Amino acid sequence: MNANTLKKKAAWAALKYLRPGTVVGVGTGSTVFYFIEALSKVKNLISGAVSTSNSSTILLKKHGIKVFNINHFPSLKIYVDSADEINYKLQMIKGGGGALTGEKIVSAMSKKFICIIDPSKKVETLGHFPLPIEIIPMAFSYISQEMIKIGGVPKYRKNVITDNGNIIIDVYNLRISDPISMEKKINSLPGVVTVGLFSLRSADIMIIGTNNGIQTLKKSNIY
Ligand code: 5RP
Repeated sequence: MNANTLKKKAAWAALKYLRPGTVVGVGTGSTVFYFIEALSKVKNLISGAVSTSNSSTILLKKHGIKVFNINHFPSLKIYVDSADEINYKLQMIKGGGGALTGEKIVSAMSKKFICIIDPSKKVETLGHFPLPIEIIPMAFSYISQEMIKIGGVPKYRKNVITDNGNIIIDVYNLRISDPISMEKKINSLPGVVTVGLFSLRSADIMIIGTNNGIQTLKKSNIY
């Protein structure tokens, strides 16, 4: 099966975690595209969704799913999104689709984070996928130099302005053995809006679509 078929399988498997009346946090990207399709089939059972990006908002509305403003809620029960890389502790690199800030806010406010992936996203150590960092444009030179100091190779993501009006640097060549301290370090640099490391708030459940069916890994089984 190709990657898209496996993404679709994982996306549909996430439906079983929804409860009637739920407001679902919805991520961004090609895997989430399939989740939104699946969600549209149960749209009358859920209350609606909170979106992480303009592109997901457009898609949700196209499918007739009500989109709420996240600021109307103190928290969400469930958030469904994918990742660019995920390790066995369910820590992730995200932001390949540029929606990392919205994704970090909504995941931080959600009680349960379900990460839906095809098997290619699973890694031993994070960092083979370039680490996205959303920054304010004025900080480009500064953040680039800081990334070189930690052994990274920063590249400006061409022709991308985020939903928040910022730019993205993709940092290549990192081998992230301690995601939590790297997330904290990069978060603390002036000009950083969001680093695409999701280790302080990792996923709770990973659903993998495989050629042999669905595999599920729960954080509660790891720790
Ligand atoms: C977007 C993300 C996505 O979850 C990540 O890029 C994976 O995308 P896809 O489902 O297209 O492989 O973090 O900002």
